[in-house]
Parts: sequence; structure tokens; C-alpha cells
Amino acid sequence: MLAMQRPVQVGLIGSQFISSIHAESLQHCAQARLAAVASPTPGNAAALAARFGIPRVFTDHRQLLAQPAIQPVVVGVPNHLHCQVVLDAAAAGKHVVIEKPLCLNLAEADRMIAACRDHRVKLMYAEELCFAPKYVRLKQLLDSGALGRPTLLKQSEKHDGPHAAHFWDVTRSGGGVTMDMGCHAIEFFRWMLGRPPIKSVYAQMNTFVHGAKTRGDDHAILMVEFANGVIGLAEESWTKLGGMDDRAEVHGTGGVAYADLLHGNAIETYSAPGYDYAVEKAGSTKGWSFTIYEEAWNYGFHQEMAHFVDCVQNDRPPLVTGEDARVVLEVIFAAYESARTGRKVELPFASTAARPIDLWKPAP
Ligand SMILES: NC(=O)c1ccc[n+]([C@@H]2O[C@H](COP(=O)([O-])OP(=O)(O)OC[C@H]3O[C@@H](n4cnc5c(N)ncnc54)[C@H](O)[C@@H]3O)[C@@H](O)[C@H]2O)c1
Repeated sequence: MLAMQRPVQVGLIGSQFISSIHAESLQHCAQARLAAVASPTPGNAAALAARFGIPRVFTDHRQLLAQPAIQPVVVGVPNHLHCQVVLDAAAAGKHVVIEKPLCLNLAEADRMIAACRDHRVKLMYAEELCFAPKYVRLKQLLDSGALGRPTLLKQSEKHDGPHAAHFWDVTRSGGGVTMDMGCHAIEFFRWMLGRPPIKSVYAQMNTFVHGAKTRGDDHAILMVEFANGVIGLAEESWTKLGGMDDRAEVHGTGGVAYADLLHGNAIETYSAPGYDYAVEKAGSTKGWSFTIYEEAWNYGFHQEMAHFVDCVQNDRPPLVTGEDARVVLEVIFAAYESARTGRKVELPFASTAARPIDLWKPAP
């Protein structure tokens, strides 16, 4: 008979949008226990703790990191804090799950990767699209040969703009929609294709709607050229009305597959009064709408957290690592460079810029 393993004690750093999804996902994981949550605004962490029965609450993440029982921490704080929090976690000997994008620049990325390596902790990158059941099935179709050899991949995420001020402030976010959602597409392409090298990136960006709110791009097209000739075409938008869109296509020499992550699973709803739309980012739910259910599961968050907990419990290598996240960030830098120059940018691409956005629209 197998011996029962002790559940993994997990700490959450951050307590709002994405951390509530992490908490929900970890609550569904039999091998995980939510041990503590830390975030600085008084009351926020306590509210999350009350909702999910988390026993310990801190206002400083370093107090959480000082708890000996905690093994991994899951970090869901604004992008400009990712590097310092990961360095602190590594120094405290904690494994880390870091939200996307990895951090603001390539020097930070190198420091984070080196710190986790030196302290012998895992740096696990939370790209949930690699765990989303519909996209996992899409990859199985491709890997099985059902679509022949891949020629073109597409992935798009679109909604009408993020929910919190730090996304709009490029000094904290590092960029606009390419930084926020382009990162998903880039890792999706790499994962889907078995992570071949990337040859070049071409990008076109605009700020169509939200110029009064942000210096960042609110609309972007990226063409990622792999060394094997396959093209990944990413479409990202913060200007799309009517709720969240997340879609992928795989075109191959033997077939094609279209996967609509959210609408494909949704309940076609007509509601005269409208209803509570939670995280769908729909501007309105009156009239016709697409009611999404079990969003965190459909998006792969439950599976992602269960995988990272398993990596810690059984010392397995994560499916998505800090090194993968660094490649994603390098592509993002190359994309902003391409958007400025109007040219295709070859990889490897080195940049000492503090943020990707500075390559496209430097601070005035
Ligand atoms: N994977 C995804 O699809 C996805 C979705 C949304 C956000 N994110 C990422 O998650 C991160 C957080 O975004 P969000 O939407 O949850 O933002 P949010 O504004 O809803 O929450 C941010 C949290 O960070 C906390 N925080 C701020 N400073 C802190 C500090 N010094 N120490 C500890 N906590 C601190 C805040 O108190 C808050 O709880 C961002 O990096 C974002 O890109 C990922």
C-alpha cells in the first residue's frame, strides 16, 4: 500500500484577482493546504483568508516567508514586484510559482533564475494555457499527427481592458496588452510546438482606445517565426467589447483545428435584467451573452496548481519554468522593438531597457 504523503503547505503572496483564483484552485487540490496569505493593504488578505479558510494572514510577504512549514509560495502581485518577491522567496528557501509575465526586464529575469538555482528552489512559471483542458486536447491532436505537420498557429486573448490600475501604469506593468496577454500566446506557441528555437518576431502595436489612461499598447499583432518555419500569430486586445475571448487555431499539412476556450463551452444566455458576470469581463450581461461556468477549471488553473504542488511534493521538473518565462520576455522585448522600427527582429535579442514599453514608446 502507498504511504500517505503529507499535504504541501502553500503560501499565497497577493490577495486579489489572480490570488483568489489560486486559492480556489489550491482548495481543489487534495495534496495542498492553504497555509497563509500576505498582502499589504489592511483587510484584503484577511478577506481572502476568511473566504477560503486560510489560517494565517500577514501584511508583509517576508513574514510569510519566515514560516518554516511553508514550502512553495504562489506569487500574484503587480509585475514590478515580481523580481524582489522571488528573490526574497528564494533566499528563504521557498519554491516559487510566479505569475506572468516573469518580471520587467531581462536583467531581473537572470537574477531571479540565478537566485532560485543557487538556493536550490524551483522557479515555476504560471502559464495556465499549457494546462487548459481544451488546449491540452488541441496539443494531443497535433502531437498525434492528426493535423499533419504544423504550418501556422494562432492564439488570441481579447477583452475591453484590465481591472486594476497597475496594468495601465507602464512603470509598474512594463507594457500594455503585449506584456499582459501576449505573454500567454508566446508560451502557448512554444509549448504547442515542443519549444523549438525562435528565429524572429514582427509586431505591430497601437493605442486605439485607452490613450488617456496608458502609454501602453491596447492592441497588438505579433508574428513569431520559429526556426522550423512555423509561424505563431498572436492577436491581443484591450479594445474588444462584449466580454473575454480566448481562441487558438492549429493549421497543419494534414488538417486544421479551431478551439474557442470560452464561447465554445458557454451557455448561450438571453437575460433581460442581466446577471452577475464575475470574471468574464463582459461589459453587460443584458440581452444575449455567453455564460461561462467553472472558468478556473476550463482555463487550466486547477490543473496548473495541482501540477506545481506535485512538482514540490515529488521533486518533479515543472512543465513551465523560469527559463521558459525568460524566453517569453525576450520575445516581448523583440516585439516592442519591432513595433518601433517596423522591421522583423531576429533572436537572440539582448536589451538593457528597464521595460519592454521603453523600446516602443520611451517615457516623455
Ligand atoms: N494568469 C493570468 O491569466 C493572470 C490574470 C490576472 C493577473 N495575472 C497576473 O497576476 C499579477 C497580479 O494581478 P492581479 O490581477 O491579481 O492584480 P490585483 O490588483 O487584483 O491584485 C494585486 C495584489 O497584489 C498585492 N500586493 C501589492 N503589493 C504587494 C506587496 N508588496 N506584497 C504582497 N502583495 C502585494 C495587492 O495587495 C493585491 O492583493 C500580475 O502580475 C498579473 O499579470 C495573471
